Amino acid sequence: MSIVCYCFVVEKSRVIAAIQEGCNTPDALRNKLGVTGNCGSCLPDIEDLLEFYGKYPDDQQVGSAGEKP
Ligand code: FES
Repeated sequence: MSIVCYCFVVEKSRVIAAIQEGCNTPDALRNKLGVTGNCGSCLPDIEDLLEFYGKYPDDQQVGSAGEKP
């Protein structure tokens, strides 16, 4: 089990599932899961997951570089 957001105790697998279901921004993930909605310290991790698994609108090279977060 890998927790991404400690404030809301959200596992990485849930964030990935939400991205694959269409949440393609940090705001969308916050609305669905709560992540980033309290202290915000998980935002960099959330952004990394968005870059790797999906669908970040500004990033045309999605998933093409870097290690799996
Ligand atoms: S760790 Fe995610 S909002 Fe605090």
